[in-house]
Amino acid sequence: MNYHFHDIHSHFLPGVDDGCQTVGESVEFLKMQMRQGCIGTIATPHYYARESIDTFCSRRQAAYNELINAMNSAGLGQFAGNIGLAAEVAYYKGIAADADVWRLCYGTSKYLLLEMPFTEWNPSVLREIKVLQSSRGIVPVIAHIERFFEFNDAKTIEQLINIGVIVQVNSGCFLKHGNTAKLVTHLLKTGTMQAIGTDAHNLTKRVPNMRPAIEQILSSGYEQQLRKVLKTNAMIYNAAMSDTHISRGVAPQDDFFNFGF
Ligand SMILES: [Fe+2]
Repeated sequence: MNYHFHDIHSHFLPGVDDGCQTVGESVEFLKMQMRQGCIGTIATPHYYARESIDTFCSRRQAAYNELINAMNSAGLGQFAGNIGLAAEVAYYKGIAADADVWRLCYGTSKYLLLEMPFTEWNPSVLREIKVLQSSRGIVPVIAHIERFFEFNDAKTIEQLINIGVIVQVNSGCFLKHGNTAKLVTHLLKTGTMQAIGTDAHNLTKRVPNMRPAIEQILSSGYEQQLRKVLKTNAMIYNAAMSDTHISRGVAPQDDFFNFGF
């Protein structure tokens, strides 16, 4: 296999959310990612504001430590150095004013994976995201934008995008048929989609599927668009891994885009 990617949205930390539940499952999950060509990944467990950020970060750190130990024991220490921390933050009222919100960003970067409400968005929600970006300097990465077209019209979604967020789409959508596949293909084709994530949770129902998604995108003739998307993934990944981690992860190599199939 000679193509690579960074996954910036998945739920593999053991026992932190509804993703992997045991450290054994987490290790198998990451092996599957590696087999598919993943060269670095950021854990993005769900964060809901009913829990304090401090408590969440403690739980996340403990799960990360357990995972890294298990990866080292499994002889996967090299890849363990390419695992970073972030969160998938469910929007909550007051997020823009929350002094601690930066602790949920990718590493110490300005990027924050944000899950919008699964409702029609009130104008105040968009206003707050604008404040989050302009006053706090945080760049929201909107998790699986495709899931919100059900609740909001295209104009509202455009208003969000125009704030200057990064738009992420789930890889699995490219493996579906019908309207979902049509929508995400349109988002890819038009450049609206800027990043891709597996949003994988486990080894049974929501599995790592970046490789088949990449194959599907390539077979549809969107290689140029895919390259751009994977570059944005690499940018977010590298930002997450800088400063706070011993390993800076793997920078895109010369053969980064040599998909070879
Ligand atoms: Fe997710």
